[in-house]
Amino acid sequence: MGLLGVAFTVLLVVATMASVASSASLVTFIFGDSLTEVGNNNFMQYSLAKSNYPFYGIDYPGGQPTGRFTNGRTIGDIISEKLGIPSPPPYLSLAPNDNAILKGVNYASGGAGILNETGLYFVQRLSFDDQINYFENTTKAIKAKIGEQAASKLINEAVCFIGLGSNDYVNNFLQPFLPDGQQYTHDEFIELLMSTLNKQLTRLHQLGARKMVFHGLSPLGCIPSQRVKSRHGRCLTKVNQWVLQFNSAVQNLIVSLNKRLPASQLAFADTYQAVQDLIINPHAYGFKVSNTSCCNVDTSLGGLCLPNSKLCRNRKDYVFWDAFHPSDAANQVLADRLFSSLFPASPSPAPAPAPAPAPSH
Ligand SMILES: *[C@@H]1O[C@H](CO)[C@@H](O)[C@H](O)[C@H]1NC(C)=O
Ligand SMILES: *[C@@H]1O[C@H](CO)[C@@H](O)[C@H](O)[C@H]1NC(C)=O
Ligand SMILES: *[C@@H]1O[C@H](CO)[C@@H](O)[C@H](O)[C@H]1NC(C)=O
Repeated sequence: MGLLGVAFTVLLVVATMASVASSASLVTFIFGDSLTEVGNNNFMQYSLAKSNYPFYGIDYPGGQPTGRFTNGRTIGDIISEKLGIPSPPPYLSLAPNDNAILKGVNYASGGAGILNETGLYFVQRLSFDDQINYFENTTKAIKAKIGEQAASKLINEAVCFIGLGSNDYVNNFLQPFLPDGQQYTHDEFIELLMSTLNKQLTRLHQLGARKMVFHGLSPLGCIPSQRVKSRHGRCLTKVNQWVLQFNSAVQNLIVSLNKRLPASQLAFADTYQAVQDLIINPHAYGFKVSNTSCCNVDTSLGGLCLPNSKLCRNRKDYVFWDAFHPSDAANQVLADRLFSSLFPASPSPAPAPAPAPAPSH
């Protein structure tokens, strides 16, 4: 599918999202992995995918670790700021009937993937299926609070942001010691991912979700944890090709779901080029380093910024915070671009037609 088609799908949602956004009452539900987690894994005793220790959060308001996998804010936090709404709290931090659920919930969990088996070695994490199960709980709780009709309206009008798939590669298919990478060719793996995602998005629709934005994958072959696998710290071309194939398969899926699911407005947010550009031309965005992490923890397993890490001198110079995750400064750049594609500034009223120029002499 061509670029024009993509732009069209995004705009379709935008037309309605923009008007809602202006009222600053947009309700958002966030599904995802460590790129969007805001602290669910803190509530899972045995999870190894945790970031609730220094130096995570060092640049977050308050300077404390929160369970976000970056030094500061996630892209979701920044988009929420721009919308003038609070960043939705982690599902597991809420009491089942907490009034906060009426304003949005974040189900994201570090280590999670589209597939249940993804991130197995983290012991505990919320897979996308788990996250959808919890969303079902939320929809029931909302109905109990405000009644069936108002609840349906709220859920239909909310925007669901979905960012999953990175771990299906980084912590599954690309790990040579795990079965999926041995069992499947990449084409078969993509097919498995798409048939699973098809069921998951259909289920979200059944639960009332109508506006869904799927956040495509970035060039995973260029994140520090993948670069270390190449001899000279280069990007892994094959991994980037797979990511592009994934992104295009998701776009095709979205086109077919928009036809099949009544009143659905699914959109694909493509940030591949934006991230690639940031990595190739860091200087153009005010960064100095994009091929290694600020925490200096570039390994293909682990790669988190542990308390004994030696931090870079200036965190704003680095695109990557640890071996997997962008820094707060990089998230700011990416969120700015994503926001302006999702919520383009409303066009100012057309200027009154200029008087016909006086005939010149
Ligand atoms: C994945 O786990 C969920 C429950 O968490 C279950 O409903 C679903 O059937 C499982 N999917 C597969 C393919 O095993
Ligand atoms: C989800 O809802 C079920 C049934 O209402 C409840 O038993 C379960 O504890 C809820 N799960 C969470 C994590 O809130
Ligand atoms: C990153 O790039 C710089 C300059 O291009 C180079 O000197 C350095 O060795 C690279 N670091 C890694 C870890 O590849």
